[in-house]
Amino acid sequence: MTGVRGARYDGIADWYDGYNEAAAGSHGAELARLLGPGTGRCLDLGCGTGQYAEVIRSTGRVPVGLDRSADQLRLARRRVPAAVHADAAALPFADAAFPTVVAMWVSTDVDDFGAVLREAARVLRPGGRLVCYGVHPCFNGPCIENRDDGARIVHPTYRAAGWHPAAPWWSPGGVRSRLGMRHVPLADLLTAFPAAGLVIDRVVEPRDEPLPYALAVCAHRPGA
Ligand SMILES: C[S@@+](CC[C@H](N)C(=O)[O-])C[C@H]1O[C@@H](n2cnc3c(N)ncnc32)[C@H](O)[C@@H]1O
Repeated sequence: MTGVRGARYDGIADWYDGYNEAAAGSHGAELARLLGPGTGRCLDLGCGTGQYAEVIRSTGRVPVGLDRSADQLRLARRRVPAAVHADAAALPFADAAFPTVVAMWVSTDVDDFGAVLREAARVLRPGGRLVCYGVHPCFNGPCIENRDDGARIVHPTYRAAGWHPAAPWWSPGGVRSRLGMRHVPLADLLTAFPAAGLVIDRVVEPRDEPLPYALAVCAHRPGA
């Protein structure tokens, strides 16, 4: 698609695919549980290299990937041949086109999380479901330092919403020291769902770490 601006993940997709593989395997099981069985097309917003496509298929749905990075899509198309090059904040789909939308680990990377949720709500059918799964803003992200003993230090940048190009405690060579990261504080993140016209059904802290890394918000478009 033309008109998609250059993307941060262009040029690192091959590296990212290997880097992300173990995490995608583990969080994929949680995504399958949150989705449960279903049918129809499932839009995977910010699909990256398509590492959740097989999980979506395993629930009975047909994945449709979408990402702003042409490089990520080059790999995603091995898993989802029809993946679309587009901006999640300006989706090239008709209103009410999908019964299910997922967004895995995108709140940290999209420029306007609220706009992405508004577009997700628009393309969902009335009654359609969104699973938005990603960084837990209180226990993960630019204000959090992981200690070797499993404790985490919260630095007083929690309220600094927006793009963080660097943090002294990010491990060298990790995705965040390469790219930076957007921080969406918890209240902003949760408030963005009703602001987009979505109804929150469940908020989940997946996996069983003593301190969660991830937060999942399951929501639906009202009106069925
Ligand atoms: C942390 S990666 C997650 C990839 C994939 N969802 C996963 O979990 O394996 C974030 C992805 O969001 C994509 N992205 C960032 N901004 C976007 C936008 N405005 N529209 C579509 N994709 C976007 C990036 O290119 C990248 O592939």
